[in-house]
Amino acid sequence: MQQRRAPARHPGSLTKELDLDKGSFLDLVGLAAQLKRAKAEGRETRRLTGRSIALVFQKNSTRTRCAFEVAAADQGAAVTYLGPEGSHLGREESVRDTARVLGRLYDGIEFRGFAQETVEELADFAGVPVWNGLTDQWHPTQMLADVLTMTEHAGAPVEEIAFCYTGDGRSNVARSLLVTGALLGMDVRVAAPAVLQPPADVVATARDLAGRSGARVLVTDDPRAAVAGAAFVYTDVWVSMGEPQAEWDARVPVLRPYRVDSALMAATGRDDARFLHCLPALHDRRTVLGAEIHDRYGLDGVEVSDEVFESERSVVFDQAENRMHTIKAVLVQALAG
Ligand code: CP
Ligand code: NVA
Repeated sequence: MQQRRAPARHPGSLTKELDLDKGSFLDLVGLAAQLKRAKAEGRETRRLTGRSIALVFQKNSTRTRCAFEVAAADQGAAVTYLGPEGSHLGREESVRDTARVLGRLYDGIEFRGFAQETVEELADFAGVPVWNGLTDQWHPTQMLADVLTMTEHAGAPVEEIAFCYTGDGRSNVARSLLVTGALLGMDVRVAAPAVLQPPADVVATARDLAGRSGARVLVTDDPRAAVAGAAFVYTDVWVSMGEPQAEWDARVPVLRPYRVDSALMAATGRDDARFLHCLPALHDRRTVLGAEIHDRYGLDGVEVSDEVFESERSVVFDQAENRMHTIKAVLVQALAG
């Protein structure tokens, strides 16, 4: 019997940064800037009226979920949220069957989860655009927001921007920043202890991209050398969603030198250096986890000090807002007629 063939992957999908080339990445950032201005000036036009979008989350989210919901609402599209519990995905129904069902009902699917293979399989079988809202490997919609935020604050083209990520170099955000900086021809540095550096294949990909884009790529275990001259210092949580909480015992001692505090910001040598964080951040004792880590390890503010987080240098809420404008650009680019 002849087997049913999977539909071709929709070109509007975004499963990882490297689905995009430099031009299409920057086009999305430019479209986001236009949409942001239009909304601020009260002249946004609805280009997604009558469209429906499924939001599938296997992990928690504040920004990504809300950004998709507000972006869709602004453009006239409806959304359905499927959380970690409540759908059959992966338990009673395979990823590819779920993809084929959602692809018949919706015009696009956002997915946040664990394995990159899951979002790739959804994209291979849905027949509609599939957007990665974070996996263990990549966080591409975050990258669009981060590049928009950096260009807004630097007031310079990407090729003239130097930024440094410091912390867990294996995290989705660290990996994504490395390849994004390399793709766009930026000066990208990652500072992480030897045991937490980005995987060799990701570094090799970044170096290969840099050979073509003119990017400068530095991966080091020296946080002070890495931030020297950087316009942006970026960090992320030390234990990511899905990792065992027992990891904290190993992470705190090795990551302590990579914490972003005033001394590390000063090591940039720039009065105009800004602080970035994808959020959520553990910067004080106002969260259950932040309080636990303070009691256990004596750290008040974990990956970033409260002083830096709350300073004028910190542009983290601009970044958070830009998640919405950039995700809106992704939706409009993929779905508007
Ligand atoms: N930065 C980010 O992805 O935030 P959420 O986990 O709140 O979506
Ligand atoms: N690395 C973090 C990013 C959160 C937006 C995580 O995966 O939990």
